[in-house]
This record gives sequence, structure tokens and C-alpha cells, in this order.
Amino acid sequence: MLIFSGSSNLPLAKKVAKGLDLKLSDLEIHTFPDKENRVRVIDRVLDQDVVVIQSTGISPNRLYMELFFILDSIKRSGTRSITLVIPYLGYQRQDHIFRDGEGVSLGVIVRLLEELGVSKVISFDLHSIKIPELFHVPIAHLSALPIFAKEIEKMGTDDLVLVSPDMGGIRRIKLLAGLLDEKAPCISIEKNRDLDSGEVESVKINGQVNKRAIIVDDVISTGQTLISAANLLKENGAQEIYVMATHGIFADGAPANLQNSPIEKVIISDSLSIPDKRKFDKLQTVSIADLIVKELRK
Ligand code: R5P
Repeated sequence: MLIFSGSSNLPLAKKVAKGLDLKLSDLEIHTFPDKENRVRVIDRVLDQDVVVIQSTGISPNRLYMELFFILDSIKRSGTRSITLVIPYLGYQRQDHIFRDGEGVSLGVIVRLLEELGVSKVISFDLHSIKIPELFHVPIAHLSALPIFAKEIEKMGTDDLVLVSPDMGGIRRIKLLAGLLDEKAPCISIEKNRDLDSGEVESVKINGQVNKRAIIVDDVISTGQTLISAANLLKENGAQEIYVMATHGIFADGAPANLQNSPIEKVIISDSLSIPDKRKFDKLQTVSIADLIVKELRK
């Protein structure tokens, strides 16, 4: 097996390669002055099973183009199979038509990946459980929830409530509660978003919380969802508020807004690499590398 990485998340790719007792194989990714990329595969891949790791968080268009060129260069060099590890599948929140006249951006991405020869996909905590149905190749849909469950066990489960910041996340907190042997109750916030602007319009919750709250989500982009949820929980008696989310995109403004919010700690996975300028004091990262290694060893 050979393992290649795009430029999006080298720290995770190196951990995975180490876990497999491999070194990252050589790729040349050249950027021209006009920002076009040229990719050349250097190690010999003829008749090999190849793994490509690339995540697509902030700047997904650039990272996807890089990925497409990596896949093309590997496929043209005669590889036997390509397993794509795409810890965060960018465009996944555009998996269906919300309003008349929209396209399905994730459908376009899936078609391109398959066209470029991907034979298997490994991804984490997809926004909807229906996303795997868009693929015609096998997809392993893994989750960071078991890692979050261990973190919660370390914190202690007394007086704890698991909170979904919207109705779409109820299944996620129920799965987490199951991993905690149902030691924590679950509640959900009702969130409404303006479909034109994408802004969070309103949040609602029934009853007092009066406990330590852990808000669980799949992705943090602007942080608006979590900050609105945290403010609402605080107004309704929550003692301490923590966040656990798999994918930390942290769009502009999110790090400072989260740092200045009532949230005590934001725990995310390393599905995306966080550049120093987007790190903040309340941020803690746990690694999904071992889960990827286990899946690749199967
Ligand atoms: C929404 O359905 C997702 O699960 C996330 O809650 C949302 O996409 C997070 O985005 P933001 O951080 O911009 O509110």
C-alpha cells in the first residue's frame, strides 16, 4: 500500500502513515504564478493499492481542484485501486435542493471523484446519513463520537446533559448517549436559519437546563449555531457549557467569537488542520488517526 497526501492536512496524514508503518509517498504539487496547480506523482504506483488523504475545509474549491489533479495523476500512472480518505467532505451541507433552482453541489463532487477513479471513500461524521447513498463506490462512514465519549468519561458524567444545537443532530446525541451507557439525558434546541443569508434566525428550548451541558455538532463554520445555543443554554440555567464537534472549519471571525462566548472549551477532531491564526485558547483537539488506520488495515 502507498499513501499520498494533499496539502490540506499533513499532520493527520503523517500520523496515519506512521500508524501503518509507512512513509508518505512523493508527490510534486507546483503552483504557478497565476495559481494554477500542476501535480506529478513521483513514486511508482503501477498496480499498487493507493491511499490518498485530503480534507476540504476552508477554501474547498482550491483543495478539491488539488485533489482532482492528484487523483488524475495517480490513476494515469496505472494504480490498481484508490482509497480516498477525505475526513471532512466539503460541500456536504449542500446535499439536496433546498429551494427551487438550486443545484446539488455535493452530487457534482461525488460524480467527479468517481470519474477520477476513486474506488473507496473513508469519511467522518457526514452531515446527513443519506449522503453515502450519493456514492456508487463503497464508503466507510466513520465517527469521532467514540473519542468524544472517552473525553466525557474523563470529565465525569454526573449532572450532565447532551445538547443538539438543532433538530437534525438528535440522532448524533442519541448515539453518543448510547456510547455513555445512557448516563446522560439528551435535549435538542430548535434552530431556524434564513435560507437566503444562511444566518441563524432564532433558537428555542423547552424548560430549564440547570446542568453541565455538552453541545455536540458535526461541523463548526462561523460558530453562530454553537454561540446561539450556548447563550440560550446559559439563559436557561446551564452551569457550564462545553462543545464537541468533529470538523472545525472556523471561518473568519469564528475563533474570536467562540473564545468570547460562554463556552468553556471547544473540543474538535483533527479532521481538518487548524492554522495557527485560527487557533484560540479554548480549543482542544483529539485525533481520529487511529480510527483511519484501523479502517485501512481491514
Ligand atoms: C447545521 O445543520 C450543522 O450541523 C452545523 O450546526 C452548522 O453547519 C454549523 O455552522 P455555523 O458554525 O456556521 O453555524
